[in-house]
Amino acid sequence: MRIGIFDSGLGGLIIAKSIVKAMPQYDYVYLGDTKRVPYGNRSHEAVYQFTREAVDYLFKKENCALVILACNTASARALRRIQKDYKNTNKKVLGVLIPAAEGAAEFKRIGVLGTSGTVSSGAFPKEILKLWKNKPAGGRVKIFQNPAPLLVPLAEEGETKNALPFIKKYLQVFLNKKLDALVLGCTHYPIFKQEIKKLLPRTIKIISQDEIVPKKLKNYLARHQEISKKLSKDKTTKILVTDMTQSVKKLSQKWFGKAKPKLVSL
Ligand code: DGL
Repeated sequence: MRIGIFDSGLGGLIIAKSIVKAMPQYDYVYLGDTKRVPYGNRSHEAVYQFTREAVDYLFKKENCALVILACNTASARALRRIQKDYKNTNKKVLGVLIPAAEGAAEFKRIGVLGTSGTVSSGAFPKEILKLWKNKPAGGRVKIFQNPAPLLVPLAEEGETKNALPFIKKYLQVFLNKKLDALVLGCTHYPIFKQEIKKLLPRTIKIISQDEIVPKKLKNYLARHQEISKKLSKDKTTKILVTDMTQSVKKLSQKWFGKAKPKLVSL
């Protein structure tokens, strides 16, 4: 059986690449909903419905034992409900938000950049606060959020340099907050990691899901033998998209790397 990775579009390939690099032995299927991307400004219900359809597809048609929602918007707005839907089955659905929240909860003054949907869902602050409540020493945590909606289209257009004024604008609100850490709470933001680092004091830890998620997943699979036992190990990856748009080939090569995976349009 395979590991399924779902995203609203192709940005999740950045996380998929780092997962495959960390655990190349498994078989993966990536599904990008290129027909309906972006999810970032859609309603709660629409994000749930689209994500549920994708998860069902990966379990039913692609023989997945486990599906990772690489999309933060889907993780924020649909994960809990889908986990409940699949509760009494042997299928598991995980998101990328909690691993990042766990990384962030090691700090006290935390900034979160995300899509409008992720920010307005309040999912990052909620998860970070939950983790803080369980800390023996307790204490006060401060979380500041800012949506950065234009970074997704800029990343998709390959406009890394021209994104700089927007990155500056989105980071502005954090500059006087004495942050300890900043969460890049969207699939596409790791593309701008270097630019973001340059604009912030070096002391601020950048929490980036392409670094965190593979480690957490490895750990999860080691603890959940009932899942890992089922995973086949033929080192294959295929990329499915709901629409073969003009940019699919270019962006998948750019973000997934040179391996030239199999590209299939549903
Ligand atoms: N994948 C989305 C996320 O991580 C970004 C793109 C979108 O808005 O669909 O939130």
